[in-house]
Amino acid sequence: MIILNTINDIRLEIKEVLRDGKSIGFVPTMGYLHEGHLSLVKRAKQENDIVVVSIFVNPTQFGPGEDFESYPRDLERDSKLVKDAGADIVFAPQVNEMYPEGCSTYVEVEGNITKKLCGASRPGHFKGVTTIVSKLFNIVTPHRAYFGQKDAQQVAVIEKMVRDLCLDIEIVPCPIIREDDGLAMSSRNIYLNEEERRAATILSDSLFKVQEMIRHGEKQASRISDFIISNIKNEELAEIDYVEIVSAKTLEEIEEIKGDVLIALAVKIGKARLIDNIRLEV
Ligand code: PAJ
Repeated sequence: MIILNTINDIRLEIKEVLRDGKSIGFVPTMGYLHEGHLSLVKRAKQENDIVVVSIFVNPTQFGPGEDFESYPRDLERDSKLVKDAGADIVFAPQVNEMYPEGCSTYVEVEGNITKKLCGASRPGHFKGVTTIVSKLFNIVTPHRAYFGQKDAQQVAVIEKMVRDLCLDIEIVPCPIIREDDGLAMSSRNIYLNEEERRAATILSDSLFKVQEMIRHGEKQASRISDFIISNIKNEELAEIDYVEIVSAKTLEEIEEIKGDVLIALAVKIGKARLIDNIRLEV
């Protein structure tokens, strides 16, 4: 496995890969990797000749006062982990490589799909995500790119960007990897102290419970969200940002649990803002 830091170096490497007629699977990350990220790398390895992983904490997707500076970083550890998971190339640029001085072009998906859910409490976040992912797609030129369903809105936004901009890249959504007690893995779980870590299971606990309610025939979205809100309110350390029941493709709110449904939550616990969701075909 090789680690490259400049656009020039990775372009030379990609040129060779393509000249050999090999397929490229791409996993964009912000590092501090866990089994969730590694599941994407392993899946990419199964489906492509070459796997590229980018590790870049992207400043443009963090709002003022968010955790850009304190976001955990450990390139040495990450490199070992992705190597074992089957990566061939790690791309780990510095900020000024991706955003040289004077850089003023952005990619933005407009509409409710970026304004609602996480977009409501993190204005500009998805503009930062679509901008960096476009730049990375242009550098890596992957055949397939792998994204976790943990960030369900991110998947929907990237899929829309790829359609709208006619990019010839297959987006492959991958399942959420969880800790044994249900908590969705996240680099931000490190912000939780012991008590907060215990409280954080309230997200998956709520989702698993409503999944059962739906399995037993509950069809009314408002009853599902009421249940989640009251369940989370039982946990003193948890503060709800949003509970949304939407169409998984458009992220438009729905009243009846029918079709491709996404139930998504964002909850603050201590310093951490945690998200989780379930997607159901009903
Ligand atoms: P990051 O949060 O590092 O996540 C990188 C990828 O790993 C994303 O596709 C995310 O959905 C996936 N992932 C994270 N936790 C997961 C889990 N528990 N199970 C499955 N997949 C999981 O998402 C980003 O970085 C950035 O926004 C990025 C796309 C790299 C653009 O900067």
